[in-house]
Amino acid sequence: MKKFFAILPVLAISSALFTSCGDAKKTTEPLIGIAIPETHVTRWVKDGSSLKAEAEKRGYRAQVQHADADQDIQNRHIQSFMSVGAKLLVVGSVDENAAPVIAEANKKGVEVIAYDRLIPNSEDYDYYITFNNFKVGVLMGQALAAALNLDARHEAPKNITLFAGAPTDGNAFFFYDGAMSVLNPYIERGVLKVVGPYAKTSDDRENFLKIATEKWLTPVAKARMEELLKNEAAGVTLDAILAPNDNLARAVMEAVKADPKYAAKLPLVTGQDAEFENAMLIKNGQQLCTIFKNTAILAEAAIILADQILKGETPNIPVAYLATGDLEKLGNTGKKVVKTYLLDPVLITKDNLNIPIEAGFYTAAETSELQK
Ligand code: BGC
Repeated sequence: MKKFFAILPVLAISSALFTSCGDAKKTTEPLIGIAIPETHVTRWVKDGSSLKAEAEKRGYRAQVQHADADQDIQNRHIQSFMSVGAKLLVVGSVDENAAPVIAEANKKGVEVIAYDRLIPNSEDYDYYITFNNFKVGVLMGQALAAALNLDARHEAPKNITLFAGAPTDGNAFFFYDGAMSVLNPYIERGVLKVVGPYAKTSDDRENFLKIATEKWLTPVAKARMEELLKNEAAGVTLDAILAPNDNLARAVMEAVKADPKYAAKLPLVTGQDAEFENAMLIKNGQQLCTIFKNTAILAEAAIILADQILKGETPNIPVAYLATGDLEKLGNTGKKVVKTYLLDPVLITKDNLNIPIEAGFYTAAETSELQK
């Protein structure tokens, strides 16, 4: 600490010198505060660095903070961005308790873009940029229906168990409802049977909460899978598991792999985020699919939007489209409908793993592993 204070005057002098030497731009570039919800899901670490790089590329200063899936921590990050003069905040929130600090930002005239996750229960911001999250779920449901050959099925049902994401993350509801919009008709037709709790939609809050995974934490999902295997799923063989993202897909697979019943054949497992480890599992035939959301493009689009807002221009983002008609509901905070810009997710199976690879989504070392 002492050392830190000791170097402060030196820094102050050198920055004053810098300014007087004509590099005034450096200290007057507007600051963008980037609030990231968590680090235990890899995508968010990448999102933080992509957003910062995109902001700096466009001449802004940028600060990133990660909140460890705790909204109080994130609220402090947001307040600290404002205290050092941030002009705009890009916020991937944790839960609805973000609303009060978003109201503070609004009062101070600081612009806010909700990033990937909608900030619910707030009327204090105007923009949201994300993927079509309902479609994410639809793609998962379609992949399962195709792999289980449910359209052609008439005999005994296939067995599935259901997992959802964090009940405090609005995205988790869209993912689940999208998937169930595809799977429910097969359940009703008797060719697919749910083992364990079944919520027809997330509106069945009691059952949805049984399926949901607190803070998207892997130990939570793994423990629930272990319990299922000992109880509801003990007398059956699971053919499929709806897992809402790759992190949780790995968690449930760990539990399943420990059960000798599945030594020869694992259930078909979905996922999301196209994480490298899961891409390897897909390549090796252990995971059915993932959903590729090119977060590098999402970050670029968010900063294009930020730049246009800060310059007072009408937003026009080449790589995203404005949600209209039925899609507008994706931007309903419960207090207002915010302008929502969407990107489309892509289903990835063994057959098109080249898509995220060719998009440059993985490091060189990961790419060569995937191409072996
Ligand atoms: C994101 C997913 C991510 C999950 C857990 C969701 O809001 O859209 O990409 O897997 O959070 O971090």
